[in-house]
Amino acid sequence: MRKLLVTGGAGFIGANFVHYWARHHPADRLLVLDALTYAGNPANLDPVKDHAGFRFVHGDIRDGALVDRLMREEAIDTIVHFAAESHVDRSILGPDAFIETNVIGTHTLLKAARKAWLDSDDAPASPRFHHVSTDEVYGSLGPTDPAFTETTPYAPNSPYSASKAASDHLVRAYHHTYGLPVTTSNCSNNYGPYHFPEKLIPLLIVNILEGKPLPVYGDGMNIRDWLYVEDHARGIELVLNQGRVGEVYNIGGNNEWANIDIVKLVCQLLDEAFAHDPSLHQRFPRSPAAQNQAASLITYVKDRPGHDRRYAIDAHKIMSELGYAPQESFETGIRKTIDWFLANEPWWRAVMDGSYQDWVKQQYA
Ligand code: NAD
Ligand code: TYD
Repeated sequence: MRKLLVTGGAGFIGANFVHYWARHHPADRLLVLDALTYAGNPANLDPVKDHAGFRFVHGDIRDGALVDRLMREEAIDTIVHFAAESHVDRSILGPDAFIETNVIGTHTLLKAARKAWLDSDDAPASPRFHHVSTDEVYGSLGPTDPAFTETTPYAPNSPYSASKAASDHLVRAYHHTYGLPVTTSNCSNNYGPYHFPEKLIPLLIVNILEGKPLPVYGDGMNIRDWLYVEDHARGIELVLNQGRVGEVYNIGGNNEWANIDIVKLVCQLLDEAFAHDPSLHQRFPRSPAAQNQAASLITYVKDRPGHDRRYAIDAHKIMSELGYAPQESFETGIRKTIDWFLANEPWWRAVMDGSYQDWVKQQYA
């Protein structure tokens, strides 16, 4: 039985990971530590709130005393570290929070793990600090460059990716210097249920339903490599169970798409959904998908400063060493995602009107 501390578990990927873990490892203890920033949503944890081993703590990973107490109280043997500021556009507007959480916060967790596992008499038998990172640390690829491997030199371009790169280096250094048992995974762009609608795919879905413009940055030809979020959770599970300590594993699904092609695909799938289900016309009267015209919302806008042109993950290492294979194709994953947003309108409405944070506001009223 494992005792996991999952940081950032009320966010998009963390919550999906917690759901996945509770289903596949029901005997394990799952302690979520989350500061509930704008990206944290208590409703994301509704599916596990009655799960036997689940506990939620509202707190900040930079609070060293709190993290030390939780490590002792729960005899944590596994940290899965998701908590981060994660949106590139926000990092361009205000980098400070990214340095605070992604760099200082990660370092606070590393110190706590070192204290609990290396400098203590009652350390768990085989502890593990798993750091969740991104392919964006490797920089930007040209059209014919080979995909990122675990040995691609770091070349982060945005304040977000630079802060994640810094955290990756700290994790590596704590292993090299102190022998902390760490693993790191660098994953490509995720999509799926509970995705905060400031990121491309959920923003497209919600804006089509509301009849709002679909902003395409620059020429729309930037390329991202997309992975269904549950396939990311599966990859992390493999690294936790079979990954070699001190190693880095890239996780991806070999699924490169130009942004404009994703925009057109989501438009087409929503047009089809409206054609098949007349009740959507009543629920979303402003959506041009009702007239088979979601693409009429496409609006080219000014490019993101420093916009990385292409990301692509080479996942051979995790595939050959740990037997990893994504289970969703883009076709099945994107349909599941659209279906989830159609079936969970109250979730995204609460995000759009801000009421998803009522619980946090009440706490500080
Ligand atoms: P997210 O923004 O949806 O969620 C981040 C969560 O962390 C939120 O619940 C937030 O409240 C919490 N948090 C932020 N600051 C905190 C702090 N100081 N203390 C405690 N909790 C705090 O992010 P996400 O998309 O789920 O990403 C999760 C992790 O995966 C991040 O580390 C990110 O860098 C990495 N990642 C994301 C992607 C992607 O496509 N989204 C791809 C690869 C890697
Ligand atoms: P995003 O979802 O923010 O992820 P990341 O920047 O971490 O890759 O953006 C994905 C791609 O979509 C990226 O190339 C920027 C682009 N994009 C748009 O064209 N319009 C938008 O409104 C958003 C949010 C992103």
